Amino acid sequence: MGSVGRDTGMQPVTEGNITELAAERWGTARDPRLAEIMTALVRHLHDFAREVRLTEPEWMAAMQWLKATGQISDDKREEFILASDVLGLSMLVVQMNHRLDDRATPATVLGPFHIPGSPELGFGGDMSDGVPGTPLYIHGTVRDLAGNPVGGAVLDVWQADADGAYEAQLEVDEARLRAKYASREDGTYCVRTVAPRGYAIPMDGPVGDLIARTEISYFRPAHVHFLLDVPGFEPLITHLFQAGSQYLDSDVVFGTKAELVVDFEPREAGPTPDGGKSTEPWLEATYDFVLQPRG
Ligand code: BEZ
Ligand code: FE
Repeated sequence: MGSVGRDTGMQPVTEGNITELAAERWGTARDPRLAEIMTALVRHLHDFAREVRLTEPEWMAAMQWLKATGQISDDKREEFILASDVLGLSMLVVQMNHRLDDRATPATVLGPFHIPGSPELGFGGDMSDGVPGTPLYIHGTVRDLAGNPVGGAVLDVWQADADGAYEAQLEVDEARLRAKYASREDGTYCVRTVAPRGYAIPMDGPVGDLIARTEISYFRPAHVHFLLDVPGFEPLITHLFQAGSQYLDSDVVFGTKAELVVDFEPREAGPTPDGGKSTEPWLEATYDFVLQPRG
């Protein structure tokens, strides 16, 4: 005999009530913030599926895409961060969480290629260490909102090489194109590196597969990454972009901001900002980082 008509005490699940049932269930999370996040996630996911009338093959394709995204990820490859970046989610989260004073240096995305624990270099130390490219000096002062210099600020710096490759994408044993610099007592800092180039985000994984089915430009303009986590100040994750570089108006991860675009001025061989001398032509970028007090 079938169960038709049997009083099982079970609540019938329908398209109309599944969302409330699931949201209620996830609302039992013991941490109230987790409960808030999970119930909202359930509601929005269900609304999304309803809006597009998601089919079973489409649902399965999404599951396979998530599986592939997990499978290609490891300590060095952050495919989920990349997905978040190209969907504009990372930049939305940055915008919401860093409502900085207009005078402060704006924040932008971390990206998937930051490696913690970079070697410490002195004022003007060369983080390119033999990697080919035009020498680039980035220097200036770390300041607070009132313009006072901030000494002892650690600037964690990283970038791609001329082929657009980050250390995390290469099989290398030593730190490559990344270093930590400290500002001096008077707030001044000086980074010596090579000029970055615009590059394509990794296109050989599930994120690339999706992008390849669109007209999206999958490039980022030439930039150098900075992370300043200074006691007493809001942590700052940002980039400096080369003025005039290609893709400034179409950054695939929505990370560009006018305040972060700086001139890389060409200089002849001769004295450099660290007090040394370059035997070849070099580029000079000047930028003062302005930090906001921790709120
Ligand atoms: C980056 O600039 O390193 C980056 C940021 C987001 C996605 C891919 C790369
Ligand atoms: Fe980058």
